[in-house]
Amino acid sequence: MAVELELEDIQGTVLRSRPMPYFGTYYVFTIDDAGSAITLIKRLLPHITPAAHWDAPPENAWINATFSWEGLRKLGLPREILNGFPREFIQGMAARKEFLGDVGVNDPSHWDMPHGGNGLDIGLLIMAGSPELRDVKAAIGREAVAGLGGLRTINRLDVGLPPTGREHFGFVDGISRPYIEGQGGNPLPGQPVAKAGEFVLGYENELGVIASGPGPEEFWRNSTYISLRKIHQDVAAFRRFLRDNAETPDGRELVAAQMMGRWRSGCPMALSPEKDDPEIAKDPMRNNDFTFRAEDPDGDRTAPGCHIRRVNPRDALDGTVVDMRLHRLLRRGSAYGPVLPEGVTEDDGVDRGLVLAIINANPGRQFEFVQSQWINDGDFISQGERSDPIAGRRDRSDEFAVPRPRHRYKGLAAFSQTRGGEHLFLPGLGGLRWMVENLGPH
Ligand code: HEM
Repeated sequence: MAVELELEDIQGTVLRSRPMPYFGTYYVFTIDDAGSAITLIKRLLPHITPAAHWDAPPENAWINATFSWEGLRKLGLPREILNGFPREFIQGMAARKEFLGDVGVNDPSHWDMPHGGNGLDIGLLIMAGSPELRDVKAAIGREAVAGLGGLRTINRLDVGLPPTGREHFGFVDGISRPYIEGQGGNPLPGQPVAKAGEFVLGYENELGVIASGPGPEEFWRNSTYISLRKIHQDVAAFRRFLRDNAETPDGRELVAAQMMGRWRSGCPMALSPEKDDPEIAKDPMRNNDFTFRAEDPDGDRTAPGCHIRRVNPRDALDGTVVDMRLHRLLRRGSAYGPVLPEGVTEDDGVDRGLVLAIINANPGRQFEFVQSQWINDGDFISQGERSDPIAGRRDRSDEFAVPRPRHRYKGLAAFSQTRGGEHLFLPGLGGLRWMVENLGPH
């Protein structure tokens, strides 16, 4: 039977792709008094943008509201409901640092974005197609907290597509994403079809059961989780690595492409292993249309350890105990901070990077599995403790291997460093109304 998503009730960011270019802001609020927080939700409710018309929205901007477990506790959600959430959400990301590889430079003691354990109770996500629209939405957020003594704005992070149109390491981003059953339209060539319950509670998931949440269905229906990570990118170190491992500009592009599995244009190595092909990169009918196991089992074109073959092995793990369908991620990431000027290879001390926002209905078997097993470990591809060359931890291995031409890169630096992270609950609009009616001081 065809799946019908209740688009008017699902918050917009779950299905909407970012505008291009995009301008956004993340606000972090701390709750000192539940009454103030309920008033905030009440004031925000008419402005929360649903997923309806997600493919052609009437207004190219949205406001969405999220809550940490700590925030829900302070709002007065009953204990039995709080205890029914997934363990990862209850504990919070900082507490899961060993499992997630957030040690050394990634340790929560270096984080500058608050998390559930130190003040992130409510997070407001604002995304817009122009700076003017972003400011209009941000003003709504600010007015909603005005005069509320029991609520503090403790952090604000602006995000936006760099003028280069690429993320800070120079890659075109936002190409591959799953097609969600019921979203409308047709999947693109190579786009995997995922059950809606992998991304929204209240629908059947890949295990054949209805993904659900704790407490009454009015509270959790059409909700989901965002696993948020603030990732600092050491662009100077990345450029030095390319420079030190290749003699020519073309050689540097090849090293970057081997690490990512795509040329910086977005063209997949799988389809053009020798040289970049910007035409393929731009063509949505081709730029995701490839497999690994069937066409490139040994990784001669796309190295088994590169970023995209790790985070989405496609068919590479068919026939093993791993079921790829259970580990799909929907990315809603965005860049922050100014671009490091072209050619600069010394760090300027400025913070720049990526706010990774992963939508998943089950943060344990989706985001956390991918981060811990596929990004930070190499066992699943017989690579020992080697990690993702772009996004992985570096305290256990600084190597990356390419089968053809056979080469082992050494001395990879911590190009990506965690500076914040939390699993956040993103209720449906009905769930927000339920919270207003049932929580807070009575
Ligand atoms: C600084 C860190 C990171 C950078 C610069 C980065 C950049 C990219 C780029 C350029 C692509 C290829 C283009 C595309 O398909 O959209 C990509 C794909 C992807 N990334 Fe990342 N990424 C980072 C960290 C992460 C992390 C931590 C995760 C998950 C925990 C992740 C998950 C994914 C997924 C699922 C894909 C799609 C792969 C596919 O379906 O082929 N990324 N990333």
